[in-house]
Amino acid sequence: MHGLFRKKDIDTLLNQSTPLKRSLTAKDLTLLGIGAIIGTGIFVLTGKGALTAGPALSISFLIAAICCGFAGLCYAEFASMAPISGSAYTYSFIAFGELIAFIIGWDLILEYALAAATVAVGWSGYFVNILANIGIRVPTALTAAAGTTPGVHTIFNLPAFLIVLIITWVISLGINETKRLNSIMVFIKLGVILLFILFTVWSVKVANWKPFNPFGWYSIHNGTAAGIIPAASIVFFSFIGFDSVSSSAEETINPSKNLPRGILFSLIISTILYIIMTLIMTGVVKYPVFAKYLNAPVLAVLAQTGQTWLAAVVSLGAVVGMTTVILVMLYGQSRISYSMARDGLFPKVFSKVDQKHQTPYVVTWFFGIITALAAGFINLNILSELVNIGTLSAFILVAAGIMLMRYTQPNAKRGFKAPLVPFTPIMSILFCFMLIAGLNWETWVRFFIWLVLGLIVYFGYSRRHSVLNK
Ligand code: ALA
Repeated sequence: MHGLFRKKDIDTLLNQSTPLKRSLTAKDLTLLGIGAIIGTGIFVLTGKGALTAGPALSISFLIAAICCGFAGLCYAEFASMAPISGSAYTYSFIAFGELIAFIIGWDLILEYALAAATVAVGWSGYFVNILANIGIRVPTALTAAAGTTPGVHTIFNLPAFLIVLIITWVISLGINETKRLNSIMVFIKLGVILLFILFTVWSVKVANWKPFNPFGWYSIHNGTAAGIIPAASIVFFSFIGFDSVSSSAEETINPSKNLPRGILFSLIISTILYIIMTLIMTGVVKYPVFAKYLNAPVLAVLAQTGQTWLAAVVSLGAVVGMTTVILVMLYGQSRISYSMARDGLFPKVFSKVDQKHQTPYVVTWFFGIITALAAGFINLNILSELVNIGTLSAFILVAAGIMLMRYTQPNAKRGFKAPLVPFTPIMSILFCFMLIAGLNWETWVRFFIWLVLGLIVYFGYSRRHSVLNK
């Protein structure tokens, strides 16, 4: 047991100098957060969500948002207390020690790299569609991984593979390039969403909202779980990413103030937009119609209103929107594994920083290439729920860590304090368990297998190489 729970000390951490460049402000962080949050969830998953909950989908979004709001407050407190790279990984190192920290870091690979691959596949679907509309046809075999669509011969998802590599290259160029590209794309994404709201809100028919909650909170419908809670477990994916803001701590100016702001602002703005959008979507289109538009549910609304010109604009916005999600996810992945490598839990070569661009380029390319291959070759439909369970587990440990830290280190300096502790972290944990319960059991099994693999890596390599041994 000795050493498994060896911890990091906040003061030592804060005194560690960082070779990364500090340039991010609260506004940049909010944009980075929105960049990571709004994407596949709203542009793709709302179709499945509407079929699962009917017009009450907006309530599902609200529940997922409340879950993330409680978790966000906990993340914000930790980020203000330990504004250093590594996000939940670093926080659990301080609160629980090395073993749990490693497990969280291992979990976060599911959240970041696997989510990036999943979103790249959604991106590819919209992109191939846009190309088809302007007369460019990508051979079907190269539009999806093998076995993705029954009866259709596919081999490799070339667009998904390429977009991940291009974004990896941008990230390796430096934080300023990443920030600039992200800001431009986030503004385009927000513009397109506002345009969508402005042009479609007039077509809402109150009759489409009736019955508002056809499946109740939880029911079994045609053999699958339906209702507000199961839909919330699905659309939880839409909020993943706000926590990635905290992984840029070492590149932030005045992090103890700006990190909490970035996290909470991006969460609030996205929630408002999601709820308005889902109310409009289910108000313009009768919810069963989304069955025909599962890959692009937003387009169901525009087909209904006849605004085909807007459909092209929205498709473009979706592609841009998902690009920023991939960008921020890959960025978060590189920074977390960079921290783990610096601590000796991953090979030391991963912590190498390029002198000219001041970025951890080895780890950026390592995970970039693995993610690109996953996006190209793996049928990710089955794996996307793993992203949710990995993230929810990280949220649970961060919330538990906040309670523990208030008890073990009541006097540590906190730039931001989560209100109503222990109520807030307890609610966060309860909501996370509720959403995990809404996922199917195969996901729980896959997650368990992933954890066992992680333990093999930890006991086979990381434990012996940890810098805390010295
Ligand atoms: N929240 C991100 C999305 O919806 C992962 O694409």
